[in-house]
Amino acid sequence: MIEAPLLMINFKTYDQASGKEAVALTKYAAEVSKETKKSIICCVQAADLHACSKNKIPLFGEHVDIEPAGGHTGKVSIKALIENGMTGCLINHSENRIPFTQIMETIALLQEADMVSVVCVKDEKEAKKIAKLTPDIIAIEPPELIGGDISVTTADPAIVKKSVEAVRSVNEGIPVLCGAGVKTGKDVKAAIKLGAMGVLVASGITKAKDQKKAILQLTKGL
Ligand code: G3P
Repeated sequence: MIEAPLLMINFKTYDQASGKEAVALTKYAAEVSKETKKSIICCVQAADLHACSKNKIPLFGEHVDIEPAGGHTGKVSIKALIENGMTGCLINHSENRIPFTQIMETIALLQEADMVSVVCVKDEKEAKKIAKLTPDIIAIEPPELIGGDISVTTADPAIVKKSVEAVRSVNEGIPVLCGAGVKTGKDVKAAIKLGAMGVLVASGITKAKDQKKAILQLTKGL
C-alpha cells in the first residue's frame, strides 16, 4: 500500500546515486522519511538493491524484464529484484521506453508477484491508454523537461492536470505522479494542487550539493 502524498526518487545511473553513493542516498531518504513522517520511495539500479536494503526505505527497481527464467543473458529478472529488496518497479521510463505489449506484460508480472507497478508516460494521451491496463500508479513526465531546471509544474502545468483528468476518466483509483525538473518544495506543492499524488524526482536530489537537505526541502511541499 503506497501512502500519499509521495516523494519518489529515481537514482537513474548518476554517479552520485550509484554504488556506495546509492547506499548513502537511501540512508538520507530513510532519515528524512523517519524525521518528517513523509512517504518516500527510492528507485535504485538493480545492482544496488541489495546493498541499499539495509536502510529502512521502500526500494523500487528502475526496470524489470519479462523474459522467463532461463537463457536470457543480461536481462533483469523479477526474482532477483525481489530477493534483493524490491517492492515495486518503474516501467517505461522515458529513458528506457518499451513497446506497449511489454508494458502490459510487465504490469501483469509485477501484479502477480504483488509488486507495485509505476508506469511512466509522456503525455495525457499515453496516460489514458495506460490507465486501461490498471497499473498501481501512472507518472507523467514530459521528456523534454527531464533533467532541466524548470519544473513541469511551471513549464507545463496543463499536461499534469490533463493527465490526471485522463487517468480519472478511465479509473478514479489510479493515482498520478508528475516529474521532470522538480527541484523545490514549492514545485511539489504545485504538483499536488494540480491533482498529482506527489512527484518523481532525480537530478534535483542526485546532483544536489547536500542531498539530505534537498530531500528535506522537497518533503516540505508534501
Ligand atoms: O524519473 C524522474 C525523472 O525522469 C525526472 O528527472 O532530473 O528532471 O528530476 P529530473
